[in-house]
Amino acid sequence: MRKNVIAANWKMNTLPKEGVEIANKINHYLADKELPVNKKIVLGVPYTHLIKVVDTVDYTKIAVAAQNCSQFESGAYTGEVSAAMIKSCGAQYVIIGHSERRQYFGDTDEVISQKLSQAYKNALFPIFCCGETLRQREENVHFKVVENQLVSAFIRVDRFNFERTIIAYEPVWAIGTGVTATPEQAQEMHIFIRNVIAKIYGHDVADQTSILYGGSVNGANAKSLFECDDIDGGLVGGASLKPDEFIKIIESI
Ligand code: 13P
Repeated sequence: MRKNVIAANWKMNTLPKEGVEIANKINHYLADKELPVNKKIVLGVPYTHLIKVVDTVDYTKIAVAAQNCSQFESGAYTGEVSAAMIKSCGAQYVIIGHSERRQYFGDTDEVISQKLSQAYKNALFPIFCCGETLRQREENVHFKVVENQLVSAFIRVDRFNFERTIIAYEPVWAIGTGVTATPEQAQEMHIFIRNVIAKIYGHDVADQTSILYGGSVNGANAKSLFECDDIDGGLVGGASLKPDEFIKIIESI
């Protein structure tokens, strides 16, 4: 089922106690609300917060995500955290291929593809990020860039696993900059992404895929983005650290 998803990405922010406070506020807000079955709230938290946040929230309303996982299963990889470890903390989702990982931590398309397979093997739902840099948009290669990211990630993924995947389009130039893509720019890319998915898996699967927009989403601009036909929610960075703002975003869908 195509779901509306509002996902937080706290990145490397908050100590566990502060994270639990944010999670508590969102949990409290949702406590007396009926969430439709096709609406999901996901909190993407640092590894050190996973167990505490899982214990804090009502799992029927809020799922928890890690922000990365190792491309390896287990073994001598000092400092790495495996998909199985994440799953054992009670998290259900994992963000894979975020542009900050691609930019600062050497997450190449090949590494990202390996991370996706670890996520599938361990029954996690990946939130796969794609998106172009400002330069690539200026050079008018943004569609090609996003297509290549999608094809290299999913070409070896079967339909069953792909159906567990959420896509997040995050133009790098909109992340943390306060410059949001316009609804038209985002919608144009989201349709394009859906068409790429249709070419790989067929229209039925593409229609059911949730495609989130990420990049300076806030309480003021969320509604106009989410109103677009092919924008099924948001992956929210900065604004997800402010519970009141994040709640406004939840209310916008
Ligand atoms: P901002 O919402 O802070 O722009 O971050 C977006 C993001 O990178 C979410 O993954």
